[in-house]
Amino acid sequence: MVRKTPPMGWNSWNTFGSQINEEVILRAADSLVASGLAACGYEYVVIDDCWSLPQRDAQGRLVPDPEKFPHGMKYVADYIHQKGLKFGMYSDAGPKTCAGYPGSGNHEHIDAATFASWDVDYLKYDYCYHEEMNLPGAVLYKRMGLALANCGRDILFSACSWGADDSYQWMKETGAHIWRSTGDIQDAFSSVRNLIQQEITRMEYNGQGCFNDLDMLIVGMNGEGNVAMGGCTPEEYALHFAFWCFFGSPLMIGSDLSKLDETSLRLLTNPDLIRIDQDSAYRQPFFLAPLEKNMERTTDQHYYKDYPGHAPLLARILDDGSVAIGLFNLSEQTVTDVADAGTIGVAPDCPKTLVAQDVFSGEQLPFVDGKLSITCAPHTCRVFIARLCD
Ligand code: GAL
Repeated sequence: MVRKTPPMGWNSWNTFGSQINEEVILRAADSLVASGLAACGYEYVVIDDCWSLPQRDAQGRLVPDPEKFPHGMKYVADYIHQKGLKFGMYSDAGPKTCAGYPGSGNHEHIDAATFASWDVDYLKYDYCYHEEMNLPGAVLYKRMGLALANCGRDILFSACSWGADDSYQWMKETGAHIWRSTGDIQDAFSSVRNLIQQEITRMEYNGQGCFNDLDMLIVGMNGEGNVAMGGCTPEEYALHFAFWCFFGSPLMIGSDLSKLDETSLRLLTNPDLIRIDQDSAYRQPFFLAPLEKNMERTTDQHYYKDYPGHAPLLARILDDGSVAIGLFNLSEQTVTDVADAGTIGVAPDCPKTLVAQDVFSGEQLPFVDGKLSITCAPHTCRVFIARLCD
């Protein structure tokens, strides 16, 4: 099945790590609905690593840990489905998961059948211990891609090889619907900046059918949980979320939904940002300022180089003819840059003028003489949707 837009939902890893159980997962499903997040499109509830027993059963099947999941996984799936949501699980292409539980390497078909029997809708597939398989990553992901495509159930295949082993070159062949184009996120602005700089070198590999995945969201974690690293300011979380949307990443919330603060909820439900993320044309962003000003690429083109003055100014043409424009200031200085209508494709004789609307404040700003000047304090962003007006 072709996925037209990136998936949205919630995943247990960022906050709960190994401390997961049925209660945590069912309450997350409840919160997605009660908070209004589900109505905005957040539909997958995904159990990450650490859900199984350390051993398979006598038939070679994975077994949920009965202390953590006393009613089994079909029960969890039924509960989630009754809420109108979808159910995701986790495994690994090697013999073990990253936390050391059984992986699906050499058990791809039996595991795909097991996930299908539990009515799983989404499988996150990690890459730890892949070297023990003595096979290329492309083959390991194809194995599970084929197993899922033949398991009798429509299961979204979420590949998680952290952009390693040049996976941008081969992941789209494997049947993956989304692929991790960047490393693991942590709850700190340095991590957000790092992932953004990686993603910018891989943006051309993004597209319908197999979306680049910048990793789960840290909005609302506020320095607590499994990937805590000091947390971010509200402005830094806003930059993080806006960039993920601008680049059309899957939006998998990673915070504890039972503690979600108002500011985070407002951000995660921002209709313009979600609309940019989910735009049906799914065109790539492009730089509005010369690349060399925004990015230094190393010789092999696929690794970012830390660039302290980095403040990418980007645009993305949306399905209805409007244009998303974003300035993302990753640097420690205030930055002013100018968006030029000509670079977006507005001809000098165009009878219309671009009018930009700020996605956070709603403020309307017309381009003057074909230009829009944008200023951002350090670690902040401004994002607009601009329309051609008479
Ligand atoms: C990492 C993965 C994380 C999480 C973790 C579980 O490899 O990138 O998102 O799934 O494994 O152990």
